[in-house]
Amino acid sequence: MSDRLAWLQNELDVLQAQGLFTTIRRLSSPQGAWLTVDGRRVLNLCSNNYLGLANHPHLKDAAQQAIETYGVGPGAVRTIAGTMDLHLELERRLAAFKGVEAAISFQSGFSANLAVIPALVGEEDVIFSDELNHASIIDGCRLSRARAVRYRHADPEDLRRVVRETEGYRRALLVTDGVFSMDGDIAPLDRLAGVAEEHNLMLMVDDAHGEGVLGRGGRGIVDHYSLHGRVDIEVGTMSKAFGVVGGYVAGRQAVVAWLRQRGRPFLFSSAVTPADVAACIAAVDLLEESTDQVDRLWENGRYFKAHMKHLGFDTGVSETPITPVILGEAPLAQQFSRRLFEEGVFATAIGFPTVPRGKARIRVMISAVHTTADLDQALAAFEKVGKELGVVER
Ligand SMILES: Cc1ncc(COP(=O)(O)O)c(C=O)c1O
Repeated sequence: MSDRLAWLQNELDVLQAQGLFTTIRRLSSPQGAWLTVDGRRVLNLCSNNYLGLANHPHLKDAAQQAIETYGVGPGAVRTIAGTMDLHLELERRLAAFKGVEAAISFQSGFSANLAVIPALVGEEDVIFSDELNHASIIDGCRLSRARAVRYRHADPEDLRRVVRETEGYRRALLVTDGVFSMDGDIAPLDRLAGVAEEHNLMLMVDDAHGEGVLGRGGRGIVDHYSLHGRVDIEVGTMSKAFGVVGGYVAGRQAVVAWLRQRGRPFLFSSAVTPADVAACIAAVDLLEESTDQVDRLWENGRYFKAHMKHLGFDTGVSETPITPVILGEAPLAQQFSRRLFEEGVFATAIGFPTVPRGKARIRVMISAVHTTADLDQALAAFEKVGKELGVVER
């Protein structure tokens, strides 16, 4: 009998041969500026833990207390087993933080997108979607069965063109990432909101990399552009700047009420644990108390990017602390990453399908908890490896 799964090994071999096979490193320390990876202490330039909250004592205390009070598991989906008051408190706090009427929490940012898009549009509808939107938005669009029409990346004029050319639909949704995580550029949400208003499109932004980063004290992209009241749906994640895990949708009361009835990941999957939720609330507390960490994140990001440009690296179009170092072909990016690791710097190579072919890169994630000495060490490693591999001039 032939092996019905033999094709899988062939596919894996192809990935290896193309330099597109992802190897996952093993961590044995908490997230932070320094990590123990594969048994070595290395400088961390990979995580989305922008503000260093993933191992913050306040968040850990809150999680431990929640375990004492609520135990470790939510029991079942919230519509069946009831919802803990902790989850409701997080939703109230997130709504206040974002300056909207209401919020609803999900297991992840990914599941928030899978919940909200199919709940808003269906077969008779259309979605206008930025061509570089995150995979979870793309999957949410597919699940909805609405017609998805892509417009050129961050291009409101191209959006206008495709909207004018599209007809014969019931409802329309315009959806964009806020900060594009592979390039670090910011969606022109103010101009997109103008197009949405001209053409009566529901407007949704995924603020996964904007919250804790953009706007006053990290309130996100809507605050950054002062668009309060003009964006219908904001999706967020608790797994990046907030340092924990979970996702949410924030916006008008009616959107949240509808998702409690029709958001499939809400109805058919259990909520995140009490410890996660308590840690998330503690993260919101910290963000509301002070802007110090957000300010420090931006200082660090500007410092690192300016020095990388000076060294001759191509850091693309980033406008945020995300610093892509664009190298071209995937094998070069992988070799660069391996050499950095040997130099004590952990920075992962990213290739197709996460970024287009020929645009492989190392994406450097700067955080508020990196010291200037850390950043200088990273710069020295990039300079050394960059010269060695002929990426920058000797
Ligand atoms: C734009 C965007 N949306 C959603 C997600 C998913 O978030 P989570 O990790 O909470 O599922 C990510 C994370 O990679 C993201 O970058």
